[in-house]
Amino acid sequence: MNFSNIDAAEKKVVSIAILVSIGHLLLIAYAAMFLHISVPTCQPNEKLFTEPSLNKIGSHRYEVHYVAKMWDFLPKKLVIPKGSTVDFFLGSVDVNHGFHINGTLVNLMAVPGVINKATQKFEKSGNFPIICHEYCGFGHQNMNAVITVSDSATEAEMDLGFQNDKMNTNLSPAALAGQGHFNKKGCIACHNISGAPGGVGPTFKGLYGRREEMNDGLKLTVDDAYIIESIKYPAKKIVKGFNNVMPILPVTDLEILEMIECIKTIK
Ligand code: CUA
Repeated sequence: MNFSNIDAAEKKVVSIAILVSIGHLLLIAYAAMFLHISVPTCQPNEKLFTEPSLNKIGSHRYEVHYVAKMWDFLPKKLVIPKGSTVDFFLGSVDVNHGFHINGTLVNLMAVPGVINKATQKFEKSGNFPIICHEYCGFGHQNMNAVITVSDSATEAEMDLGFQNDKMNTNLSPAALAGQGHFNKKGCIACHNISGAPGGVGPTFKGLYGRREEMNDGLKLTVDDAYIIESIKYPAKKIVKGFNNVMPILPVTDLEILEMIECIKTIK
């Protein structure tokens, strides 16, 4: 190629384009090195996961696996000591979700079948809400979690959410197991245990033995058979005033029985 044949104006345009590109690369290098902004990366070799986890990998260094699901993030609460650096691994068990940690530049997509990663150092104490910013269905606007950066905490701790809702801690082993399933499967994102109105699904408070009216006018008393059917075939009977939005979750028969034992204790 003979560069002397190129028109002077064209040479100018090409030179400017090259300079702008170099400028952008320098800005990215500056952001990464001096502003400590991590570039979100897809992790093709990371094993898929369906449950949240927290691992300490060094002093003030943690790895947290976040699960996004309709319509919650797990862990629901994460407390970390001030000055900690966290590797966030994000997966989705259903549809695409957004994952933005307010007050930081962490902004990921949770995509089923894929793990995405970002790293963030937390130098200021306070609460950092996580919100879903990708429309993901009926309960999208309720999909959130929080990271608390603490001056006093010495170790990170994750909280799956159930116990925040003033749960009875004196439970039989079966009911305790059921409480664990509700936490891990994210049921309480839609079914609160406080009895507060406005949930995506009916509250668990006082559910067992309650008279419920369905949207077709059928009235029934909530018992084992009804709960089993509602978990296995959520669309079959819809309580009046609610929408048919509950997903079918992978649960075993034993897990369902343990969940029922737990529901019985939420009075
Ligand atoms: Cu998840 Cu919107």
